[in-house]
Amino acid sequence: VNTTIDTLPTPCLILDQAKFQHNVTKMRTRIAQRGGTLRLHVKTNKSIDATRRIIADGAPERIMVSTLEEARYFAAHGLRDITYGVGIVDQKLEETARLIGTGVDLKLVLDSAHMARRLGQRGRELGVTFKAYVEIDTDGHRAGLQPQDAQLIEIGRILAGDRGSQLAGVITHAGGSYECRSIPQIRAMAEQERSRLVVAAEHLRAAGIACPQTSLGSTPTATFGESLAGITEVRAGVYVFQDLVMAGLEVCRIEDIALSVLATVIGHQTTRNWLITDGGWMALSRDRGTAQQAVDQGYGVVCDVDGRAYGDLVVTSANQEHGIVADRHGGAIDFERFPIGTQVRVLPNHACATAAQHDRYHVVEGRQVKAVWPRINHW
Ligand SMILES: Cc1ncc(COP(=O)(O)O)c(C=O)c1O
Repeated sequence: VNTTIDTLPTPCLILDQAKFQHNVTKMRTRIAQRGGTLRLHVKTNKSIDATRRIIADGAPERIMVSTLEEARYFAAHGLRDITYGVGIVDQKLEETARLIGTGVDLKLVLDSAHMARRLGQRGRELGVTFKAYVEIDTDGHRAGLQPQDAQLIEIGRILAGDRGSQLAGVITHAGGSYECRSIPQIRAMAEQERSRLVVAAEHLRAAGIACPQTSLGSTPTATFGESLAGITEVRAGVYVFQDLVMAGLEVCRIEDIALSVLATVIGHQTTRNWLITDGGWMALSRDRGTAQQAVDQGYGVVCDVDGRAYGDLVVTSANQEHGIVADRHGGAIDFERFPIGTQVRVLPNHACATAAQHDRYHVVEGRQVKAVWPRINHW
């Protein structure tokens, strides 16, 4: 690749190499300062090239995946320590057994006695030992058992008592941190995530069940949490790119966001003070994660081709292949600054969702495209 941004067909995905590297190093340093060990969640990047850079920076070779497609892809590229973070069901056990058979140390997640029993049974039938974490609900936002739920002991005994299964430990993800309103709130959420997970582990241990691993994490709690007492690993994924939701939470600055969608101005609506671009929701995603935050960023903040935010220009509305760009306060647009054909870059609300609309990253240093990194999607 030896080209510049202005030759790229739009819309397409741009990754600012320096910002990506900065984010990667910053989180690695932060987790190390806290005395923790990182497990990279690869659902954000879904790219072996990006993941190799993160490992080269010092992240351990251990990942969490959100789909079996990610598990297959990263395993095929040599990563062996993988946790599949979405509750397991019967239909996926043959595939997970096959991956274990190829030498992958694959850990699963469940929160029911039903699936714990099925794991043991199917493990024996398929000739593998399935390792599973029990998911703990530490913030009421999604799946998992309460830390002191009696079912936790029942599940622990089922997993430990069958040669087809094994208890890996307890796991939680404080996704509720995305709804926090201040850094002190995120810090409190991180301590709640930690302390409730430790309560669950102690609950199992008090019943005589070994609970080796305690795994937690989200980018906000990983960034602002303090103590990691009793915790064996911290998971995070979105930090590698950062996004407007993270900026709204003060996890990063707008200038730290490494990912953007390159789009072209295709028209002017002078009476309405709109620029029309070819970056619609197919390129940006329909994510409106900043809608509930103090600053609503529409479908994304508009920057110049070098990635500098104009300030008040946002994508206020998005059709499939059209983006409508306006001043967030309804101010006048200086159309002479944006001739038809002008390239702009749009920062994403949610990096995982925006990246998932694309099959490659154009990795840039300034306006120079240094590399193209393919990425995977789907299940
Ligand atoms: C189970 C689990 N762990 C970890 C993470 C990583 O969190 P973040 O995306 O905030 O980095 C996620 C993200 O959704 C998740 O679902």
